[in-house]
Amino acid sequence: MGLSAPPLPPAVPMPHATAPIPDRPAPGPSNVALKLTMALTGTVFALFVLVHMIGNLKVYTGAEHFDAYAHWLRTLAEPLLPYEGALWIFRIVLLICLLLHVGASAILVVRARRAKGPHRRRAMGWRRIPATLMPWTGVVLLVFIVVHILDLTTGTKPVAPQSFTTTTPATSYAFDNLVASFERWPMALFYMLVMLMLGLHLVHGLWMLATDYGATGAHLRQVWAVVAAVFAAVVAIGNISIPLAVLAGWIQ
Ligand code: HEM
Repeated sequence: MGLSAPPLPPAVPMPHATAPIPDRPAPGPSNVALKLTMALTGTVFALFVLVHMIGNLKVYTGAEHFDAYAHWLRTLAEPLLPYEGALWIFRIVLLICLLLHVGASAILVVRARRAKGPHRRRAMGWRRIPATLMPWTGVVLLVFIVVHILDLTTGTKPVAPQSFTTTTPATSYAFDNLVASFERWPMALFYMLVMLMLGLHLVHGLWMLATDYGATGAHLRQVWAVVAAVFAAVVAIGNISIPLAVLAGWIQ
């Protein structure tokens, strides 16, 4: 009797396999291009929030220094650039990065959900928390940016404090505006909670940079995970300390 392979059992449909696997790439930019866009714009944001946090810490040096710093931001590179010229360049670059970052993430989230169907990745340990929360912490940050600009830049009431004073080419009132804003405890609490969200968003975003920029060595990835955690904690704690210090009466 010749040996023959046993017949294959009849195909059983997989209970979860509801999403058909696409046989051709989705229209629009490739996932690699989108991931790279997120990585590059995310790097710009990470550097921005670090530099901004360092600038914010100047509040501990007193009103005169803090207002002088805000004034310097507006007169930077004068007379080569007009008043607020450099600031407008930063604003435009940040806005372009924001649109690209949000746009690319929205496309990637939709594509990932379609590709995964009802399946979700499990067992990533503690990293799952910031990873799963990424779209939500991102949306919170978007809302925060709008509130923050109305509160401390444009002085739009009722978001801004009643006493908000608009900056002039001669003087900045950034210190008084900041203190007046955080003396309202709900606003101070809002900032502190958002800074925690920022920390979570940063730790996962920075961690993803290692993969996006192609770092494959195990040691390098371990070091990078520590760098990401320290960076995120420093930015979050540095910023949280400011509304806390105003509430505690250490800055007034
Ligand atoms: C507790 C944390 C923070 C404090 C105390 C703070 C403080 C300030 C202050 C005082 C200004 C106005 C500066 C001026 O008018 O010269 C400002 C502007 C701004 N901040 Fe923050 N900030 C914080 C967190 C953040 C975060 C996390 C982001 C980004 C995600 C951010 C983005 C901006 C932007 C885009 C502006 C507008 C700059 C402009 O167009 O003039 N800030 N911030």
